[in-house]
Amino acid sequence: MSQERSDTLVLFGATGDLAHKKIFPALYQMVAKGTLSEPVIGVAFEPWELPKLVDRARDGIVTALGRVDDKVFSKLASLLRYVSGDYCDGATFEKLKTALGSAQRPLHYMAVPPTMFETVVQGLEQSGTARGARLMVEKPFGHDLQSARWLNRVLHLVFDEQSIFRIDHYLGKEAIQNLLYFRFANSFLEPIWNRNFVESVQITMAEDFGIEGRGKFYDDVGCIRDVIENHLLNILLLLAMEPPVGRSADDLIDEKVQVLRAIRTLTKDDVVRGQFDGYLAEPGVRPNSPVETFAAVRFFVDTWRWRDVPFFIRAGKNMPVHATEVVVRMKRPPLDVFDPIKPGDANYVRFRIDPQVAISIGAQRKVAGDDMIGEQVELTALDDTKGDMPPYERLIGDAMNGNGQLFTRQDAAELAWRIVGPVLGDTTAPQIYAPKTWGPADAMNGFGPPDGWINPSK
Ligand code: BG6
Repeated sequence: MSQERSDTLVLFGATGDLAHKKIFPALYQMVAKGTLSEPVIGVAFEPWELPKLVDRARDGIVTALGRVDDKVFSKLASLLRYVSGDYCDGATFEKLKTALGSAQRPLHYMAVPPTMFETVVQGLEQSGTARGARLMVEKPFGHDLQSARWLNRVLHLVFDEQSIFRIDHYLGKEAIQNLLYFRFANSFLEPIWNRNFVESVQITMAEDFGIEGRGKFYDDVGCIRDVIENHLLNILLLLAMEPPVGRSADDLIDEKVQVLRAIRTLTKDDVVRGQFDGYLAEPGVRPNSPVETFAAVRFFVDTWRWRDVPFFIRAGKNMPVHATEVVVRMKRPPLDVFDPIKPGDANYVRFRIDPQVAISIGAQRKVAGDDMIGEQVELTALDDTKGDMPPYERLIGDAMNGNGQLFTRQDAAELAWRIVGPVLGDTTAPQIYAPKTWGPADAMNGFGPPDGWINPSK
């Protein structure tokens, strides 16, 4: 397909939660910046009329942004259309076809549960509304390797790979873009960014809230599938990849795929699983559910650059703080010329991903006074987040423009499932941890980077 911009956005799942929380606010921002002027057709089962969808969109925008500019909103409202109907019913797609009118290159955005993907794709094909179109697919992309392969087959029956955009909203975050930029726009990192200098890499995604009424979804998924297999593994890839040879989407994705191919398949010994006390009482959660709400996982990347450097990922609900952070810790100096450098006080590079965006370098300096005694200091470049583009805004814009750089390609989607496959669906009871702690303390004892975890601060 050419790089021509999509001429209509079709939003399946328009009355759903994701549309309300993320997609309508993103569309509003796009309209405000003048980057969206194409029609937006919402599709969903609810037998609503357009004004109800418009109200719902407005509510989502006010909730997300705290304000709405009437002029901008009425422009967005003028772009909105609504088609209601069952995805299993061909008549729904005939109505969609009518609503599409003379559109040649729609972008169909599937903000619906994965169980509906096949039905929607078939409906698109049978009605002829897949012709010339692009398809954007929400996570989770499958449940394991087998289901991801099957999903890929289903999508490929109708859409070619170039026209499929598998979303991982983390890749649209400003801080993640910055991580990639910082790595490859600076030359000082390159000589030390390898197994000779790096002791360990740790990535922590801590959320200080529970599962927020998503019990049914979460209990089917668990922490590893929800955020590790996708969001956090993607961060690991950006840290570990080689510089891309060019600027095309495939140049970048090829390098990530090389890393995925080199990551060892996990075994049970690479994982600590925890569940916060109280999870079982959440609505939608099965009695005695073995699903983890916390996981710490050790990865190894078997490349010349990274062999034997442990990459740890830890994520959990109900942690003491809300923060996502990466720490790349360097080895300690080979000799202590002055006072001994304490374990954990080696140099490091810290990427703060959420809620603030910052890049810091940890170093030792002398404390003022007679003695040659040191202290750890941090040199930080803090982003004021002005002008940051929210992920959904960036990703919808990219998909409409046919730019697949920030999306997950078929081979990457399948390789990620291959890596985590053996540790999915563990039915043994996870270790219980108290809410607002850093996971199950006993099980975590001795599991982590050689010089320990660094807990992100508030
Ligand atoms: C989603 C997960 O993909 O990412 C959630 O399903 C998680 O469980 C969320 O809370 C975190 O994303 P963000 O951008 O809000 O930090």
